[in-house]
Amino acid sequence: MLHIQEIQKTYDTGDEALKGVSVRVEENDVIAIIGPSGAGKSTLVKCVNRLVEPTGGKIFLGETELTSLTSKELRDARRDIGMIFQEYNLIDRLTVMENVLSGRLGYLSFWNALRRNFPSEDIERAYDTLELVGMAGLEDNRADELSGGQRQRVGIARAIIQQPKIILADEPTSSLDPETSRIVMELLREIAEHEGVPVLINIHEVQLAEKHADRIIGLTDGRKVFDGPPSELTDSVKDRIYRNGSSSTDRDSSADVPQSESSTVSMPKTDV
Ligand SMILES: Nc1ncnc2c1ncn2[C@@H]1O[C@H](COP(=O)(O)OP(=O)(O)O)[C@@H](O)[C@H]1O
Ligand SMILES: [Mg+2]
Repeated sequence: MLHIQEIQKTYDTGDEALKGVSVRVEENDVIAIIGPSGAGKSTLVKCVNRLVEPTGGKIFLGETELTSLTSKELRDARRDIGMIFQEYNLIDRLTVMENVLSGRLGYLSFWNALRRNFPSEDIERAYDTLELVGMAGLEDNRADELSGGQRQRVGIARAIIQQPKIILADEPTSSLDPETSRIVMELLREIAEHEGVPVLINIHEVQLAEKHADRIIGLTDGRKVFDGPPSELTDSVKDRIYRNGSSSTDRDSSADVPQSESSTVSMPKTDV
């Protein structure tokens, strides 16, 4: 399914974010990538859809080598990769329905995409998907009227409607309160089962990962130091992941790396 082989990323700044990381995903599992801030978690998932260009190694999705695709081929391959973001990446002025449908844009011709002219099957699928994520009846609400948890449900629906082969999530819960985070993690598990696709989630909260993931990958300082079930994530393994990595947490992160830890308190507490 997804084979990440010895992937490396050195940014132009000289930051060695990934120093040869390999991950194999075969099952329709929920896989959590944990590790301290600066460990390379976001870089790793962004290398999969090539929002970040790796500087070494290969990534295969099925038979397709993602790391060797031209930009035209990449556009098609990205339909197979659903992405869920920490800050949801919804378009505020559009409705819930319009935001979900944008997950189908990659399937439309240029002209239909420009006019947002979706076939009726896509619209039906959007209704079904919104029901699946618990957002039925809110189709016409504007995205900016929603709570954080509702926005993330829309983000999840937008990823599902792509009918991807894999779903990637970059800190999907770090802007949410603990109860909403739990609900979102449960929803991601249901999605993995219902859609039959693996879900790869970057998450810095170890307890959420232990509770909701089938498998945990520990990254520290650009290297994989653990790969196994939550039951094998002992205290000494956690120490290894977090203590070794702690030297990189105080490194100056550049502008596009959100410091998620601080955003938790500002979000609404009440949620569906
Ligand atoms: N766009 C970038 N330019 C330069 N360095 C970056 C960039 N993005 C991330 N880094 C660096 O790469 C390392 C890993 O960052 P990141 O993948 O964001 O880690 P995490 O998601 O685990 O917090 C950090 O040292 C970070 O400062
Ligand atoms: Mg990150």
